[in-house]
This record gives sequence, C-alpha cells and structure tokens, in this order.
Amino acid sequence: MGRKRKAQPVVPVVKSRKRARKIVTQFHKVNDALAILEEDANLNLVDKEAHRSRLQESLEALGGRAAYQSASQLSVSFHSTSKWVLARLQAMGIIRMQSAPSLSPSQPSQKPRLLEVGAITTTLLDCPAVQTTAIDLLSRHARIQQIDFFHLPQPPLSTFDVIVASMLINSLPTASARGDFLRRCHAYLEASKGYLFLILPSSCLTHSKYMTVGKFRSLVTTRVGFAVVEEKWTPKTVAFVLRASGKCDEGRLTAGREKVTSSSWAKKFDILL
Ligand SMILES: C[S@@+](CC[C@H](N)C(=O)[O-])C[C@H]1O[C@@H](n2cnc3c(N)ncnc32)[C@H](O)[C@@H]1O
Repeated sequence: MGRKRKAQPVVPVVKSRKRARKIVTQFHKVNDALAILEEDANLNLVDKEAHRSRLQESLEALGGRAAYQSASQLSVSFHSTSKWVLARLQAMGIIRMQSAPSLSPSQPSQKPRLLEVGAITTTLLDCPAVQTTAIDLLSRHARIQQIDFFHLPQPPLSTFDVIVASMLINSLPTASARGDFLRRCHAYLEASKGYLFLILPSSCLTHSKYMTVGKFRSLVTTRVGFAVVEEKWTPKTVAFVLRASGKCDEGRLTAGREKVTSSSWAKKFDILL
C-alpha cells in the first residue's frame, strides 16, 4: 500500500467579473463585521466566539483570502493601476523610460525606491526604472514578499520615494488601522518628500456614513502632512497622488467619529487618527 499524500490546498481561480465583484464585496463586508465584533464590549465571550466562527465559516465558504486575491487579480487585468502609476511617474519626471519595446533603466543609484502594498501582479516589479519592493499578506508570486505592512521595519531603517496602495486602505479591518496606515506611509516618505499613490473605491468617500471627499482631503493634508498633488476620478474609483510635504502634526490629531449621514445605504468606511 502506497502512503497517502497530504491534500494540497486548492487555489481558487475566479473567472467571471460578476463573481469577482461579489467575492470582493462580501469579503470586505464579513471582515468589517469581524472588526465590529472584536470591538463589541457588550457581548459575552461565548456569544462572541459563536458569532466569530459563523463569520469565519462564511469567509471560508467564499474561498478565503486566496479567492479574494484571485477575484482582485481578475479585476486588475481590466484596469491596470500599475501602468497608470508608471505613466504618472514618467510624466512627473521621477522615472525615465524609453518608448517601446524596451524600458531603459535609470542608473541603479538614481532609481526611485518604490513600495507596493497589497501587490497581486508583478507589473511594478518588472519595471526596470524603479527599485520595487512588493508585499502582500498572502503572496501569490515568488517575488512578492509575504509580509504585513504593519510589520515592516520603521524609518530610518526603511524609507521609500514612492508608495503604491491600490484598493488596500478600504480592505484594512478598522478605521484606526487606516489612520495608522496613512501615518506610517508619511513616515516612510518623509525624508525623500516622496509620493503616495492611493487608490480606493470612490463610494468610500461619496457614500460613507463617516467620510466625505472634503473630510478626507482635510484629514490627509492637515492631520497627516500630505499635499494633494493630483486626483483622478472614475465612476468606481478615485486615485490620489499625495506628497509627503509637511510634518505630521501630532498635536492636532483628534480621535472620535462624527457621522456625516445617517442614510441606511451608506458604507461604514472611516479613518481614525
Ligand atoms: C483588494 S486587494 C487589491 C489588490 C491590488 N493592489 C489591486 O489594486 O487590485 C487588497 C490586497 O491587499 C492585501 N493586504 C491587506 N492588508 C494588508 C497588509 N496589512 N499588508 C500587506 N498586504 C495587505 C490583501 O491580501 C490583498 O491582496
């Protein structure tokens, strides 16, 4: 009798755009519910655990993080934000690229150091004009490092000229994690006065209980220390190019969430600093 082989986990491949959208939306909803549950001080431990396992079961039923990433990969194949980022860096004179077919790398010492957070493709890693570090919580490629952004070495051990975070901030579990993310990005970019390319669903700023476009701009500028260099709106997404221009003014940071609308349809997207 041959030895039984241990079953390998099957990596789901999502092929339909409709299914991909459904998986991404559901994944975010369940994760939001998990974050709210963890903060709920009124539930007893037994009820909390029961609720938690139900939510985790529904994440598994969706196919877990692997299915979520496969769904994101499919969406990205229809609108490459990485290509847009490279085009903007070239237009801003930050990288030099030759016309097709080959990209001309800048001198190694002059290459901007780019960090891609939540990387599911290798487009930025493949560009010879930048020195890219690509990370994700669950790596789907040998060159994408499997590491949590919040566990990266702090500056001055680690600094960057450009950070790219596409559809990342909305996938973080809590409003405080989003605030922490922005503050850490600013710290990594402060020395170089570098740029954060932040892309998120436009509905996070236009259909949220707690956030508006104006509130977001004011928060990233006066509270975190970025300047808004550019904004690009499409019906579904908004891309910000933010420059780490000023000091992060800790003294003016405030906590607490104010509702901007009570509509039942509104999302719960918020950022706390
Ligand atoms: C919605 S996907 C977006 C992927 C891609 N950037 C895009 O534009 O479609 C979010 C990705 O961020 C990753 N992610 C979430 N939190 C992270 C963290 N703390 N550190 C590193 N990656 C993270 C997830 O694993 C997932 O692959």
